[in-house]
Amino acid sequence: MKNTQKPTQSQFDKKAEAWSARFSEPVSDLVKRYTASVDFDKRLAMFDIQGSLAHAEMLASVKVIAPQDLADIQRGMAQISQEISAGQFEWLLDLEDVHLNIEKRLVELVGDAGKRLHTGRSRNDQVATDIRLWLRAEIDQIIELLNLLRHALATVALTHAETILPGFTHLQVAQPVTFGHHLLAYAEMFGRDASRLADCRKRVNILPLGAAALAGTSFPIDRPMVATLLGFDDVCRNSLDAVSDRDFAIEFCAASALIMTHISRFSEELVMWMSPRVGFIDLADRFCTGSSIMPQKKNPDVPELARGKTGRVNGNLVGLLTLMKGQPLAYNKDNQEDKEGLFDTADTVRDTLIIFADMVGGIRVKADNMRAAALQGFATATDLADYLVKRGVPFRDAHEAVAHAVRECEQKGCDLADLSVEELKKFHPSIESDVHAVLTLEGSVAARAHIGGTAPARVKEAALKVLSEVQSAV
Ligand code: ARG
Repeated sequence: MKNTQKPTQSQFDKKAEAWSARFSEPVSDLVKRYTASVDFDKRLAMFDIQGSLAHAEMLASVKVIAPQDLADIQRGMAQISQEISAGQFEWLLDLEDVHLNIEKRLVELVGDAGKRLHTGRSRNDQVATDIRLWLRAEIDQIIELLNLLRHALATVALTHAETILPGFTHLQVAQPVTFGHHLLAYAEMFGRDASRLADCRKRVNILPLGAAALAGTSFPIDRPMVATLLGFDDVCRNSLDAVSDRDFAIEFCAASALIMTHISRFSEELVMWMSPRVGFIDLADRFCTGSSIMPQKKNPDVPELARGKTGRVNGNLVGLLTLMKGQPLAYNKDNQEDKEGLFDTADTVRDTLIIFADMVGGIRVKADNMRAAALQGFATATDLADYLVKRGVPFRDAHEAVAHAVRECEQKGCDLADLSVEELKKFHPSIESDVHAVLTLEGSVAARAHIGGTAPARVKEAALKVLSEVQSAV
């Protein structure tokens, strides 16, 4: 028999109550869990409260709510903040998300004033505001951490401005470089990452509140006032766009993917340098682990994990791009899925940068091994060719003459610097007794003294420049 009886109020679960009389049946527990976001969006709570307080202050200033309502809301929110900080706030899945949980508690605490808070706004502009407030704080922190890492890199670079190791192309010994120069390459990358985030921040720091559900509101709201109260640079200029697009979060994820890409490249080198086969560095024990079976092992777990975590950060970027594509205007519930990946990205990048700044500061450099490796592989062959060019030999001829010399050395099992002037002269008559100065590793690096070159003097200068740029980070 068909049940035509209307459900009584007691048959509704709390969530249905939240939606009032519009619904005739409660959602199942599974649907409730499926649609709820409170488990993860509760981390936005303090930003949600901050946004609500600014909104309430504005409503009072334009006389949509009474001064007493504002005072009640402020009192209620102060208590809620305190409950959340103390871990005493009861988060209910039935109330779906952070916004409804806080609003419900506010009404419990202050009554009608709490019910007036949602005047002229919607959860759509509310959540967009919360995310932007949260992301702005994350960006500021990550920029500081990038600077901290750059500080660590530049400090080690300054100490090792004269330490020589082989520079590689195709993972083959190419030309000698200084270790300081090598580290400063990463300082450059992380510097660009910081400026990318600073640029992204400009587009994050725009206020969506006031867009309401999608079309704006009929109340005489003062959006610039709210923007000023919350430290936003401007207000979103189109209500439909304000509640729906997450491009600012995608930009952050893209900038983060690049940070992790740089971290991953660096990690690859740390792992290689630490391999006993290479033996260029040692990482402090606190960043490594042993093997449960092989007692001799000291594995560079932290760089390997960082290289691996780049995958999840890249994945979060693709996830968010895919989430956005194909969404018609304006807000769609799809957007609730923006948060976990975004949070995970910020957490991963933040933790990685903190650990790396510490790890870089503690790198133990095995300069003798670096030097020995640079002495193998004819790293100064280009210097010999340049020497000939400076004596009027066309570069291609010089290149050819040196190639012959390298071949002979290979057969003899020696380095170019081991050949006498007489032996070298066989490959080109322009070679004179001063040739050995350019065949040494020191001569080679010192000769590259232009801006951006590996000469110790330049490296020191470059390291000091980075240190002065990031002074505020330490
Ligand atoms: N929890 C939601 C989110 O994260 C808040 C906005 C809900 N809006 C709506 N129309 N259902 O997107």
